[in-house]
Amino acid sequence: MRDTKEDFYVLGIETSCDETSAAVVKNGRQVLSNVISSQVCLFQKYGGVVPEIASRKHVELIVPVISEALEKSGMTLEDMNAIGVTYGPGLVGALLVGLSAAKGLAFSLDKPLVGVHHIEGHIAANYIDHPDLEPPFICLVVSGGHSHIVYVADYNQFEILGQTRDDAAGEAFDKVARAIGLGYPGGPLIDKAARDGNPKAMAFPRVYFDQGSLDFSFSGIKTAVLNYLNGMQQKGEPISVEDVAASFQQAVVDVLVNNVLKAARAKNTRNIALAGGVAANSLLRSQLKNFAEKEGFRVFYPSPVLCTDNAAMIACAAFYEYKKGIVSSLDLNAVPGLKLGER
Ligand code: KG4
Ligand code: ZN
Repeated sequence: MRDTKEDFYVLGIETSCDETSAAVVKNGRQVLSNVISSQVCLFQKYGGVVPEIASRKHVELIVPVISEALEKSGMTLEDMNAIGVTYGPGLVGALLVGLSAAKGLAFSLDKPLVGVHHIEGHIAANYIDHPDLEPPFICLVVSGGHSHIVYVADYNQFEILGQTRDDAAGEAFDKVARAIGLGYPGGPLIDKAARDGNPKAMAFPRVYFDQGSLDFSFSGIKTAVLNYLNGMQQKGEPISVEDVAASFQQAVVDVLVNNVLKAARAKNTRNIALAGGVAANSLLRSQLKNFAEKEGFRVFYPSPVLCTDNAAMIACAAFYEYKKGIVSSLDLNAVPGLKLGER
């Protein structure tokens, strides 16, 4: 049931990859429900997401997940003020399932539809856990598909300061985890194994571009790990999974932290936020906090459940889009390669 007429409720829907999620969020930052049905177990045997299977699973799950989100929030569809949905970037077949459901609901209920950029959603996850966080700030968005340093000038104004030129950080975690036999998804497994390893055991490369560039490259680190593993195998020597995990993780985190600090200094902002699945990484969180706080920056990161894909972050971003007068038309299409800041 609605509290007051002034309150604004958004039903958020997210299906860009392998999580089917729906959430009800009140006034942008108060999560009333956030149902996430993950297909991770399904893809463990393949070592990664199979797009066609993901789309079919979303079709099966989308209606029950939306119903459960409404039920848990104690609200009805009629109570919603807007429907927010991810329309890109992501897997096209997966995006289309959530988008079609959102468009159908917006049309039948005669409610506004707000299309949300997936990365904008990841950034917005920080608003949910930190009621005092407001733009401007620097956000490091690191997930399975993205590694971006973003200057968040306003709720819907973004400037990309740096990005990966090859693999995303999460992709490198997943590929290295597979190579050392840890399974899928690799990020949390490397994070865990690294706790018992020596981060200085191997010197994997840290790639920086020319002065002034905040871009990343993670394919070199991944290749260095693969070469190391091959070399050890040829010599018949055993490898320490924990040491490889710790040394690889340290190399990735060093580059992420150094570049994001450079960005924060250049933009003269006080606040730095983390977002995306890799933002759940314990070393990234602690090292960034440690180094940044020494320079007087404040560091924000979402709780782990809001770091990985979820619909609450999409509803939050949709709220701020709507408040700026941004509404999508019902012919909105999925855009798999959507750029941040593009509509
Ligand atoms: O944001 P997300 O759920 O999906 C995408 O939009 O890609 O991110 C998933 C990525 C995966 O690559 C996963 O291995 C990584 O985030 N990840 C982590 C951790 N938890 C998830 N990487 C490093 N450390 C973690 N603790
Ligand atoms: Zn994501």
